[in-house]
Amino acid sequence: MDILKVKNYEEMSKTAAEYIIKEVRQYPSIKLGLATGSTPVGTYKHLIEDHKSNGTSYKDVTTFNLDEYIGLSGNHPSSYRYFMNSILFDHLDISKKNTYIPSGVANDMEKECFDYERLLDRRAGIDLQILGIGSNGHIGFNEPGTSFSSKTHLVDLAQSTREANARFFSNLDEVPDQAITMGISTIMKSKEILLLVSGEAKSEATKQLLAGNIAEQFPASILRKHTNVKIIADKAALAEIRVHS
Ligand code: F6R
Repeated sequence: MDILKVKNYEEMSKTAAEYIIKEVRQYPSIKLGLATGSTPVGTYKHLIEDHKSNGTSYKDVTTFNLDEYIGLSGNHPSSYRYFMNSILFDHLDISKKNTYIPSGVANDMEKECFDYERLLDRRAGIDLQILGIGSNGHIGFNEPGTSFSSKTHLVDLAQSTREANARFFSNLDEVPDQAITMGISTIMKSKEILLLVSGEAKSEATKQLLAGNIAEQFPASILRKHTNVKIIADKAALAEIRVHS
């Protein structure tokens, strides 16, 4: 894993955006894997600014998001579809029909999982997957204990994850108990992974990721087996680890 140490959240966001923009310009029909949460928001802002000022085009780009809450339709302000539309897609020239997010309200969730996985396979997978990490080591919504061979599936959210995400809802009770998420093996099929980590709250997780065992109890640890992972982490996230900057 290549680790790039940056000063702070803003530098992480700028560096990540520059990398993504370079890829999009070089491969206009790139397939991007996208994450939600707070970590990539700054990166997305930079993509929008660049699109507006330099005209980088997303008209041939396809995106696949990692996850969605069960029970929330795309119109719900706390759904990941709504989040992605409002913080990114609505501000780019991307065609919405090329932005895929698993549905949290499909009648047959088993079929939805199967179809999402098949869609990714048919489209020959993700070229560049953007990831954040949960403080318990989750990637996507793959909570500790998830099988490394998992495909797109339904998960029960850990209480710590519901609490961490309550800030996107009016109160904790509104945070769904379940989500649909790409599995660990789905994520690992991405040709390249860009993991963004910022802040002191992630320093334990970062240490565990880089120096702990590769174990299902810490899902992100599997990334050490991927041959093309770049980590952009700020000083605060790397506080527990010695890295040459
Ligand atoms: C979001 C996702 C999650 C987040 C993680 C970190 O689509 O898949 O794994 O990346 O929960 O969230 P933040 O960035 O809010 O700290």
